[in-house]
Amino acid sequence: MSQSNSNDSPEVSMKKKAPNLDRFDRFMKKKVPKPFNQIVVKLAPETRNKINVVDFTGENLVDVASGTGDIAKLFSKKNDNLNKISCVEPNNEMFLIGKSNLKNLSNIKWYKASAEKLPFKNDSYDFYTISYGIRNVSDINLTLKEAFRVLKPGGRFFCLEFSKINNEIINLLYQQYSKAIPFVGKYIVGSSQPYDYLIKSINEFYSQDELVDLMLNNGFSNIEYRNLSNGISAIHSGWKI
Ligand SMILES: C[S@@+](CC[C@H](N)C(=O)[O-])C[C@H]1O[C@@H](n2cnc3c(N)ncnc32)[C@H](O)[C@@H]1O
Repeated sequence: MSQSNSNDSPEVSMKKKAPNLDRFDRFMKKKVPKPFNQIVVKLAPETRNKINVVDFTGENLVDVASGTGDIAKLFSKKNDNLNKISCVEPNNEMFLIGKSNLKNLSNIKWYKASAEKLPFKNDSYDFYTISYGIRNVSDINLTLKEAFRVLKPGGRFFCLEFSKINNEIINLLYQQYSKAIPFVGKYIVGSSQPYDYLIKSINEFYSQDELVDLMLNNGFSNIEYRNLSNGISAIHSGWKI
């Protein structure tokens, strides 16, 4: 693994530290009580019932900003590895780790591409997932347009992202906790730089309702969200109808 250079941008520095970041990412996710992947796996059958799908085995999922492929793995397991799953990840190091982690699952294919330009035909997927990835994209409107484009009519979009806390006291505590994250990151990864970026990007990201508006503007219908841990994170979902 290459060493970080103090002149690196936060993004380059993050890329060079991919395995350590994965460790930190797992540490952070323990803070979300009900992991997104379990919720998506639970909601997917509800979706099927609503759209009257009887045979699930032909369904497919695209997981964008896949990182190390946790969602793809769980979704695949839940469906006896019978679904086609596409993992999209632009970062070479994350891509290689994810691909290697899931190398025994032949129903999962990896694509080195970004959310803004997906290498898929229109109307290809039943489900689109993006977990802690949409905050990192350079063009959120293009990302949502691409998500809408590659979903089949009747397909469903799921997004998990850090969001805005709806409780003043918890917000105050969380702000203090956030200030500690770069120090924790420095301890685990050896540099606080990526975590300063992380906190900044969380603070600058859209609120739950702003993200609903963006989804609406990019074609989605029946949009809903549910807050996790008072809005530390939120899951948004929307349909292509
Ligand atoms: C915090 S990780 C989340 C990984 C995984 N989804 C999970 O929840 O474990 C964010 C991922 O977004 C990827 N990413 C950054 N910019 C992206 C873009 N424009 N398109 C797709 N993925 C992107 C990063 O390379 C990184 O793997």
